[in-house]
Amino acid sequence: MPTVSLVSSTAPLTADVIVIGTVATPDGVALAAGAEAVDKSLGSVLGGALAAVEASGRHDEVIKIPTLGRGPVPLIVATGLGKGQPDVLEPESVRRAVGAALRGLSSAKRVAIAIGQDSDPDLIAAISDGALLGGYRFTTYKSKPTPPALRRIDIAASNPADAAAKAGLRRSKIITTAVNNTRDLVNTPANDLNPVSFAAYAKQNGEQAGLTVEVLDERALKRGGFGGILAVGAGSATPPRLVRLSYRPARARATVALVGKGITFDTGGLDLKHAMMGQMKSDMGGAAAVIESIIAAAKLRLPIEVTATVPMAENAVSGSSYRPSDVLRMRDGRTVEVDNTDAEGRLILADAMLRACEDAPGYLIETSTLTGGQLVALGTQTSGAMGSDAFRDRVVAAGNASGESLWAMPLPDHLRASLDSPVADLVNLPKDRWASMLVAGVFLREFVADGVEWVHLDIAGPSFANSASGYTHKGGTGVIVRTIVASLTELAS
Ligand code: BES
Ligand code: MN
Ligand code: ZN
Repeated sequence: MPTVSLVSSTAPLTADVIVIGTVATPDGVALAAGAEAVDKSLGSVLGGALAAVEASGRHDEVIKIPTLGRGPVPLIVATGLGKGQPDVLEPESVRRAVGAALRGLSSAKRVAIAIGQDSDPDLIAAISDGALLGGYRFTTYKSKPTPPALRRIDIAASNPADAAAKAGLRRSKIITTAVNNTRDLVNTPANDLNPVSFAAYAKQNGEQAGLTVEVLDERALKRGGFGGILAVGAGSATPPRLVRLSYRPARARATVALVGKGITFDTGGLDLKHAMMGQMKSDMGGAAAVIESIIAAAKLRLPIEVTATVPMAENAVSGSSYRPSDVLRMRDGRTVEVDNTDAEGRLILADAMLRACEDAPGYLIETSTLTGGQLVALGTQTSGAMGSDAFRDRVVAAGNASGESLWAMPLPDHLRASLDSPVADLVNLPKDRWASMLVAGVFLREFVADGVEWVHLDIAGPSFANSASGYTHKGGTGVIVRTIVASLTELAS
């Protein structure tokens, strides 16, 4: 990770590149606040240069302006903040704009950012978030990787010694590290990331962050009666795992359970997939997000107790695969008929949520790449949130404020009857396929203990991007880490 620091906005900036903002105003493109000193040092030519190249100031417009030996640095990058006013800087617009700028640079070693230039901690954090998320690269599988050039990011601020601004920067570094690690995990293909190697990653990185980590192997899962996790993992050459990470600070203000779906690859099982299988290395995006979020909570020293319960399995095809019509006995003794082996996520999650609730947490946050229905209903960028009404709404509000996009969805009681089975207590998929995102949520609700406030976040679309924009790269997005950390932060305050 490059170093990020605050530098004084009154001294001239030294860098390979200076990033400034542009805004789309009703009268055309304008320089955003913070660019004044840079513009002046160039003889106030930037407005004319932007007009000459027909700049608009819209999101994802990144214009590179060489200074031809006449300026303080060789290159100015003008990045669009979207519609607005030059001196009203909305954090998510700033995050996106700075992200797009940094994503578009490959050889700059030192980048200075002159946007806003005050010391508002939210603005400083947004600039830092955008730079660290946009500067992300995934080169693990290149035989000749170009080493990341970016070493240093300077953010111009009116008071670089401001304590709140420095705290905002520290928080940004912790959270963006969690997001980028989640991206790395999602981007790692399933020939390297399997339940065993994923569990080893969680143990090593969890313990390094001071967490207590317990890994249940297939024998422990059998002893513990985790019939859902064992069945889904049965077809794979790599056996399933259940990882438990816990963070227990002194004087905790709340107890929170996290659960995340860790399917390292989803072929669909014997109900083999016929669409989107190529994206299914990302079916552990929920697990990665909760592991990285609890690590971030520990680094932030949040005064809440957090335990992450993370089921990991590969949904594979072989002679030992579980079958449609199999009846599984779950952790609490209840039975589930398998109608479709591709509805595997809810089976491993049910066991994990039962285990999580045995600790009697006050809150349960579960997240998963659970249904194609999420994409149908809300698209590639907005996660669906279901659960206890009040807690669901708090998580949606905290997540949206953090810059992620979530929308509250209902869990209608009338959908419950469709999950009745003629042979078992429940079936994993009803005959009719409408509202499949909600039906999955209604299924999961069966496994939440009374009195636990809970939320289910379906991130099927948002966890993986097929095109880049703003601070988002192609591939794993790291989505839902910021929402979880924001929710934990709120519960801790
Ligand atoms: N992992 C998938 C959901 C998914 C789909 C995630 C697309 C990301 C992108 C889940 O296990 C699944 O297969 N869901 C199916 C179930 C159905 C076919 C039985 C679905 O919702 O389409
Ligand atoms: Mn599936
Ligand atoms: Zn799946």
